[in-house]
Parts: sequence; C-alpha cells; structure tokens
Amino acid sequence: MALHAIARLEELQEGKARSFEAAGRSILVLRWKGEVFALRNICPHQSQAFDEGYARAWVYGQPTACPAAGAAPGGVGEGSWGFVVDSDVPVIQCPWHRWEFRFEDGRCATDPHFRVRAYRTEVDEDGTVYVDTAR
Ligand code: FES
Repeated sequence: MALHAIARLEELQEGKARSFEAAGRSILVLRWKGEVFALRNICPHQSQAFDEGYARAWVYGQPTACPAAGAAPGGVGEGSWGFVVDSDVPVIQCPWHRWEFRFEDGRCATDPHFRVRAYRTEVDEDGTVYVDTAR
C-alpha cells in the first residue's frame, strides 16, 4: 500500500473531476454521491489528459423487452435497444474524442479493449483524501 495525501475533501466539488499531482503522476479525482474516485490522468486512446473532461453517470444500451416482439416474432420492437442511466457508476468523458471511462474500475465504456488505471481512495476523519498508487 502506498497512500499519498492528494487533496482535501472540501476542494472537491461534487460531480466535477479535478486533477492533482501525487507520486510523480497526474491523478484525476472525482467526488460522487458520497464516494471519492481516482483515475490516472492519461487517456489510453491517444495519451492525452482528461482535464476539462466531463464527468457524468454511465449510460449504456441493453436489449429491451418488447411485448409485441414476444407476441409476434419479427414484430415491431424485436431486437431493439434501450438505454440505462446508472447514476451509481460515474464516468469521465475524455475531452479529445469523447471516449468514456468508468471511475470505479477504469474500464472504457466506449471500447472494452481499453482501460485506464483506477486507484483505491480513502478519506480520513479530517477530510484528507488519500490515493493508493501501489496497485
Ligand atoms: S485521447 Fe481520449 S478519447 Fe482520444
């Protein structure tokens, strides 16, 4: 474990990602619904920083159940997709080409072959935010 004090909780505006320096690297920190997340601040697409990126809830598509499709195979709605907004899973949208990465695990929501490093965080009783850069 390599904990680094990186910020104070009051420096983090809810829902707005901000970059800090720790352990010789730039780290993007987000306060979201009572939790603090941290990502390496380098987009794996073309190695640009996420600064000025947009944090928001994860939106993903999934097949929708359509009663019409079940009643009449090949009917209206069969194979259609709906969208789910998961406000418990924040993402950063890279400002360069709009790829999105989940804060909880760094997984790219746009292309699952890409991932950015996600760091474990802690907040002590004094409101100091720590990032664990060991893993
Ligand atoms: S550099 Fe981030 S999406 Fe291209």
